[in-house]
Amino acid sequence: MKKLFIETLGCAMNVRDSEHMIAELNRKEPYELTTELSQADLIIINTCSVREKPVAKLFSEIGVFNKFKKPSAKIGVTGCTASHLGKEIIKRAPSVDFVLGARNVSKITQVIEEKHAVEVDTDFDESTYNFGDYRTNPFKAMVNISIGCDKSCTFCIVPATRGDEISIPSELLIQEITKAVKTGAKEVMLLGQNVNNYGRRFGSTDENCNFTQLLQKISLIEGLERIRFASPHPLHMDDAFIEEFAKNPKICKQIHVPLQSGSTKLLKEMKRGYSKENFINRCEKIRSLCPEATISTDIIVGFPGESDEDFDHTLEVLEIIRFEQLFSFKYSPRPHTEAAEFDKQIDNTLSGARLTRLQTRHTEILDEIMDAQLDKIHTVYFDELKSNGRVSGRSSDGKLVFVEGSEELLGQILDVKIIKTSRGALDGVLV
Ligand code: 5AD
Ligand code: SF4
Repeated sequence: MKKLFIETLGCAMNVRDSEHMIAELNRKEPYELTTELSQADLIIINTCSVREKPVAKLFSEIGVFNKFKKPSAKIGVTGCTASHLGKEIIKRAPSVDFVLGARNVSKITQVIEEKHAVEVDTDFDESTYNFGDYRTNPFKAMVNISIGCDKSCTFCIVPATRGDEISIPSELLIQEITKAVKTGAKEVMLLGQNVNNYGRRFGSTDENCNFTQLLQKISLIEGLERIRFASPHPLHMDDAFIEEFAKNPKICKQIHVPLQSGSTKLLKEMKRGYSKENFINRCEKIRSLCPEATISTDIIVGFPGESDEDFDHTLEVLEIIRFEQLFSFKYSPRPHTEAAEFDKQIDNTLSGARLTRLQTRHTEILDEIMDAQLDKIHTVYFDELKSNGRVSGRSSDGKLVFVEGSEELLGQILDVKIIKTSRGALDGVLV
């Protein structure tokens, strides 16, 4: 059997794209996944281009792969960097056999047949393509509900790499999720760049369904116990959506609300469409209707023109909302973005110092949140067997929980009492 080595960088959409590529390849001929590069017949690097560093790493990585791979092995570069650099990749690294963009995943079986194939069309509509089945974790399914992004955040390269937003018809989504449930998935993660903008545009149908209505439809699927989604946009968090989030028992009580900056002035320059006050108001609405919800966020520091005062606004939002999880980044100027041309780019040392301050304060908050979990009861969906006689799963609000146990716990949703806490995970006993 042929062996496939696949490296996946970036976000959950990329993880799903990798699953789709594995499924499509297997439709044609069976591939066994390997983590041993030297044994692979096909090597895929599924790239992210949201920040500069991973893009710079790509070419040195291709050099290393060339040294250790079998001479007959093919190398493909896929994903967002493939979309934005296209045939430039083969010019700079002629050992690359094919380049496949983030919007062209369904063509994987074609491009592996053709020397130096480049398929990076960002207008290509894969929204109704019937991908083969493959799940990294048999207990959980990931499902794309939309592709592309219609926003124009001035820092972000994604609209250029993933194209215009197209929603996938709800009927196809229901079919896909029902099939996943029948094969053992009790949880689904709905994916899209802005999930709560669902229904803005469909490819070939003229369906009328927004995200809240989609959640209602999906929660009717029998046997489906848990629904998660990533990522919603603060601008589209209307009251009806927050009410549905709070009252629908199948929706897990964890929500990602990407802030980016706490400064209304910078939010305007980022073209985010909300102010500091709007953002706080939406999070407080979530907390008032659903006190048990955990809120996570993304923050960029060092966006062009960020003053000490702007950064203080960001710290203030952190104090008010006390995000459970924080994904924080130094601003990285990207091609095809407006902000890359802005004056007043921020010095790297200053951005670094701000990032450290933000992360240090967040760590203190996180420690307090996790310490407070002692003796609490969480409902955990067990989905992973560890090597040391332990099983892990996630609570509804997204915490990683370990208990002692074996295979029989996998696929079960059980109450756990927390007996030990740490920053990254909780230990518990079944109750
Ligand atoms: N520089 C730094 N971080 C960025 N992100 C997106 N574009 C950039 C950039 N140019 C971050 C945002 C986004 C997350 C996926 O990556 O916070 O929400
Ligand atoms: Fe995901 Fe954005 Fe990275 Fe593309 S650029 S892989 S959409 S995070």
